[in-house]
Amino acid sequence: MIKKFLDLGFQPMANNYLQTNSKLNKKNIHTYRLEVVFNTDNSLISIKTKIPKEKMFNNKYPYKSSLSSTMRTSFKKISQKIKNKFEPRRLLEIGSNDGPFITNFDKNKVIGVEPCGNLAKITRRYGYYTYANYWDIKLSKRIKKKFKDIDVIYSANTITHIENLNNVFKAINNVLSKNGILIIEDPSLLECLKKISYDQFYNEHIYIFSAISLKQIIKRFSFEIFDIEKLPTHGGSLRYFIKRISNKKLKIKKSVSKQIKFEIKNGLQNFTRYKKFAHDVYKSRKMLVSLLKKLKEKNKKIIGYGATAKATTVLNYCKIADDMIDYFLDTTPDKIGRYMPGTNIRILKYDKKLMKKNYFIFLGAWNFKKEIFNKEHNFLKKGGKFITHVPFPRII
Ligand code: TYD
Repeated sequence: MIKKFLDLGFQPMANNYLQTNSKLNKKNIHTYRLEVVFNTDNSLISIKTKIPKEKMFNNKYPYKSSLSSTMRTSFKKISQKIKNKFEPRRLLEIGSNDGPFITNFDKNKVIGVEPCGNLAKITRRYGYYTYANYWDIKLSKRIKKKFKDIDVIYSANTITHIENLNNVFKAINNVLSKNGILIIEDPSLLECLKKISYDQFYNEHIYIFSAISLKQIIKRFSFEIFDIEKLPTHGGSLRYFIKRISNKKLKIKKSVSKQIKFEIKNGLQNFTRYKKFAHDVYKSRKMLVSLLKKLKEKNKKIIGYGATAKATTVLNYCKIADDMIDYFLDTTPDKIGRYMPGTNIRILKYDKKLMKKNYFIFLGAWNFKKEIFNKEHNFLKKGGKFITHVPFPRII
């Protein structure tokens, strides 16, 4: 049974950074109701209204994962680990973006799959074999025909973006070798609940996995998780190492039962835990709006840092406009000069000069807090202030 626990109101499509102010352009903005539901059968959390993939992942996709040093380092580390531990003859990445993972491997060993044409073009230019297609059974058959079996399939922050999970795992099952390894990493549901990071929900994040839910989903395809690593990326993620149940060479590590027990202890199988989360979210909105209002009453200037898809959820749910946040700063070329989706807040090119020490800076990219605080060391040293809403709204 599907049970709703959270309603984040009408939202524009995150990552749809328009050149026009959404307040003046209302009729051209596609909105959807962002509601979050719990599946009592497998404890899977998902958004209720799904947007067709072609509308989200096309040749205009603005996010490039290689722009962040945190992500580049993380991909480098896992690549080294894969080489040392699994020595794959051939690997495949589902959602290769602009290449920070695949570029750690020999060009003749790795295949990228990236439906956003603008990104696939980049890795092809580097000389990497990249399919500009959505991941599905048809594509996996094409890959199998050309390359035979794949030893390691890696996918970070992508599987939760694909609506038809049956199709995803059927396609993986089709192309993964007998003793092949599947590695998936995605934001952790437990971290999301603990951090009250309701902005993990938006049209692209169709699911937020827990070890409990993923275990049940993959079991249908005779896969099992044999190891789990905790990662600090994207606000707290889990990296799941998965094998075929028939592969007895690899032992299931303690990390798996430990994570599952911890999730059970924290109520992830109980609807009441999600009702509590919804209550935390309403409180978080109240606190953030009141904090911003108080600063504006004192004539303080507030700007945003990191024009994330996550910030789109926050701004639209809390109804924050340019009378509160003057502009957002971001380093992504494809976002600059555009507007935060659904709002009249402009995105300006990141420039230290636009961050005066008496400004209050709302941290849209809170998931890169460490990287950003290192970069803005001088601003902070001079008394500069950030605002975050995670785990609860406050000034840092
Ligand atoms: P991301 O973490 O992908 O969040 P989401 O998935 O919610 O969109 O996006 C991070 C954004 O923050 C991206 O637009 C780049 C921006 N950013 C900066 O502008 N400066 C920085 O130093 C960092 C780390 C990120």
